Amino acid sequence: MPPVDFTSSRQAAAFFRIIARLAYETTHMSTTTIDKSNERVQRMFGEIAPNYDRMNHLLSMNVDRYWRSWTVRKLAPVPGEPILDICTGTGDLALAFHRATGGKSEIVAADFCREMLEIGCQKQERARIGRELSFVEADAQNLPFEDDRFAIVSVAFGLRNVADTNRGLAEMARVCRPGGQVAVLEFSTPRWQPFRGMYLWYFKNILPRVGQWFARNSSSAYEYLPATVAAFPDGEALAERMRGVGLKNVKFWPLTGGIATLYVGRK
Ligand SMILES: C[S@@+](CC[C@H](N)C(=O)[O-])C[C@H]1O[C@@H](n2cnc3c(N)ncnc32)[C@H](O)[C@@H]1O
Repeated sequence: MPPVDFTSSRQAAAFFRIIARLAYETTHMSTTTIDKSNERVQRMFGEIAPNYDRMNHLLSMNVDRYWRSWTVRKLAPVPGEPILDICTGTGDLALAFHRATGGKSEIVAADFCREMLEIGCQKQERARIGRELSFVEADAQNLPFEDDRFAIVSVAFGLRNVADTNRGLAEMARVCRPGGQVAVLEFSTPRWQPFRGMYLWYFKNILPRVGQWFARNSSSAYEYLPATVAAFPDGEALAERMRGVGLKNVKFWPLTGGIATLYVGRK
């Protein structure tokens, strides 16, 4: 690599300011205050809804599909038993459950962002799926379902956005049947140092810029993503929160070097 040629001390100062800024962002992201009010989260997902699926597959290089299918395999849903997927967005996990159960289970896909649900409904129509799958507008912190109703209650990349994490988990546990499974698939931070460094750099510097550029949204959704991941409990810390709402036998599996983790507990 040729040496960096600073033709003036002003250029050198600018260069070192950029480096200092990147270093600061990388280490201080987790301390940023994040606005997770329902209004802000709804508005943000409403804006990115038309591009959400495309961006998901592009920025994760399609690994997100593998994480959802791995989750469904691990949970092994029994055809005929009801399933609830909260923070379902455009319904990809709910659709994966539908495929796995051969259309024999009632599947409820709930979210509080109407624009995301509309895209989910379009996907349902295109796949010619009947009323065994329904999209429902609902806040994860106040689910409109009776106690002990579902055999599986899942959330994929959604719990991190819910303003009150414990409340969201408690609602998932409440509507799950005794003996049923509560599953959380969520981003996490890799532990192994060389990979962790590279990943954090990509996640905090490349992903927000690429995301912003492609999605062309104004509310910084792709800056919000690394900030919320950095601030969200992962590994044992999230497993402990799940135990805290009464779930038992909580286990977790880091996926793809720990970029995402699947947590499962029994009621
Ligand atoms: C990152 S998307 C995940 C969508 C989908 N589960 C997936 O795997 O792609 C997060 C979703 O959570 C929803 N969400 C966030 N907070 C919520 C809440 N309190 N109640 C219901 N949905 C919520 C958002 O509207 C958004 O659709």
